[in-house]
Amino acid sequence: MCGVVGYIGSKSAAPVLIDGLRRLEYRGYDSAGIAVLSEGRILSRKETGRLANLEKVLTDAPLQGTRGIGHTRWATHGAPSQVNSHPHFSSDEAVAVVHNGIIENYAELRDELTGKGHHFLSETDTEVIPHLIEQELKEGAASPLAAVLHALKRLRGAYAVGILFRDEPDAVYCARLGSPLIIGLGDGENFIASDVPAIINRISSVIYLNDGEIARVRQDRVEICTLEGATVEPDPQAVSFHSEDAECAGFETFMLKEIHEQPRILRALLGQYISADGSIDIGPGLKPDYFRKLNRIMIVACGTAYHAGMYGKLLMENLTGIAVETDLASEFRYRDPKIDPGTLVIPVSQSGETADTLASIRMAKDWGCRVLAICNVEGSSMVRESDAVLFTNCGPEIGVASTKAYTAQQMIFALLALYITGIRNDLTPEQIKGYLSELHEVPDAVHYVIQNKETIRKIAEKHHDGPSSLYMGRKFNYPTALEGALKNKEISYQHAEGYAAGEMKHGPIALINESLPVICICTKTSDEVYEKMLSNIKEVEARNGRIIAVATEGDIEIRKLTQDVLYVPEVRDEFTPIVNVVALQLMAYYAARARGTDIDKPRNLAKSVTVE
Ligand code: F6R
Repeated sequence: MCGVVGYIGSKSAAPVLIDGLRRLEYRGYDSAGIAVLSEGRILSRKETGRLANLEKVLTDAPLQGTRGIGHTRWATHGAPSQVNSHPHFSSDEAVAVVHNGIIENYAELRDELTGKGHHFLSETDTEVIPHLIEQELKEGAASPLAAVLHALKRLRGAYAVGILFRDEPDAVYCARLGSPLIIGLGDGENFIASDVPAIINRISSVIYLNDGEIARVRQDRVEICTLEGATVEPDPQAVSFHSEDAECAGFETFMLKEIHEQPRILRALLGQYISADGSIDIGPGLKPDYFRKLNRIMIVACGTAYHAGMYGKLLMENLTGIAVETDLASEFRYRDPKIDPGTLVIPVSQSGETADTLASIRMAKDWGCRVLAICNVEGSSMVRESDAVLFTNCGPEIGVASTKAYTAQQMIFALLALYITGIRNDLTPEQIKGYLSELHEVPDAVHYVIQNKETIRKIAEKHHDGPSSLYMGRKFNYPTALEGALKNKEISYQHAEGYAAGEMKHGPIALINESLPVICICTKTSDEVYEKMLSNIKEVEARNGRIIAVATEGDIEIRKLTQDVLYVPEVRDEFTPIVNVVALQLMAYYAARARGTDIDKPRNLAKSVTVE
């Protein structure tokens, strides 16, 4: 979704802003713009499409000045166009604003301001903000800060804003309510940004602005207050990752890099959550006694994180005596889920800023539930609003299609399930030790799959060209089928559908013909699921389906039924989804490459979905 950056220092602002916007590109956008304070005026440049278009405009008409704000826009109100691009200005061009979020009462504010003589140029909700600030100044606000405070109090909805005043050149303002925003502290220069990776190469520490706070960012200091005007002491924190973590590191895309990072991340999570004595340590947030008495868990998430939640449900129900449900956050928040305070709510999110998941947390808290987040981003809204957090610690995930965050979320669920099992004596310590020992085999198995990427590439290239594909799995690997299909459609734009294999006969079997690739997740299991999957595969074969299997290394028999096989190493049934999905990530990756799409920034998608 929209990205915000701001700079105040002694360097030329435009290149700094462009660099920040480039690092925010992964969030998704369709136009971009910057405004720079230049010799007593605020000048802007805006362009639709990729950032390169804006850079070209800047080459032809450069902007001089050492403070400025910038924006990548993901269109909500009004089509992607130059006039709808941010920054937006007040009528007198003394105030410029960039904004991420949605102002819900913009129509009524716009009518009111139009009645007072303001003239609007764009179709955006954002444009009311500079006009409101201008109006507050006209009506006698004592200072730019007072005008911002008054104006923001009139807004309903969500915002992260960066504001530049023509007549206060030694400050850049910013504020947030419901949309992410951070302040980066550099050496004789300061920054604002939607997230840390945008400015990681330039800062030494970061201030996570809270909802309802406004900051006046100067070159050498930051002053923060609440919407009510109460002073807030800034709390700078060290950044826990390095600037190289937000670079491509020689890989052709961020997604490929992130796929390759998975074995290391999974190993590190095992090291982090398993103590030297072999016990699982999930931190002090929720006490063991809480888990002993727990009888219901509700997992809420969106997209890929929802698929991780489905895996978490299957695993926790399998290993513990607790009833577990998983729901899409966007559905959960509008249904009537009958949650009591005894239910543990587990939101799962890479970004920690997904609007629907955040709303679900707030509802859960209103009902008196405890909230245990699984999240990747320190300082994110979800982290701050939950009672306890299990960090996935993947470092920044830049590729829009989530990969390393997914397998890390799965690993956290495996550890959490075993932790709860231990506390409630659902399994003996010896049994848990056995599970953990087999969980330690997973990073190497994932590594093996990645090593085999050339084979996967050839198979993907053979099957990438049709209009559609079908993914089938059962039990623990039903979520894997959904996630494999999601990866494929996101980045290769091929329609793909994930299905529970047992449901085939209830509809999708009608689709089978010789040209539809059917990707069957059929790794060996210790129960009857493998045999059931084989029967489903035979049903496809009988209808001349084009079958590609994900199968266990050494399973020769399956070759007879299938056109192609993606072999993966054998791991315990419960952990196969962490390994199998990596084969599907690579399959989607190489299909997308063959189809020539923009893999890291697929069309229409945003990395961090901060609006409903
Ligand atoms: C898919 C993908 C999305 C996200 C979803 C939730 O590859 O990345 O489906 O999983 O938008 O985002 P987070 O995890 O940030 O809450």
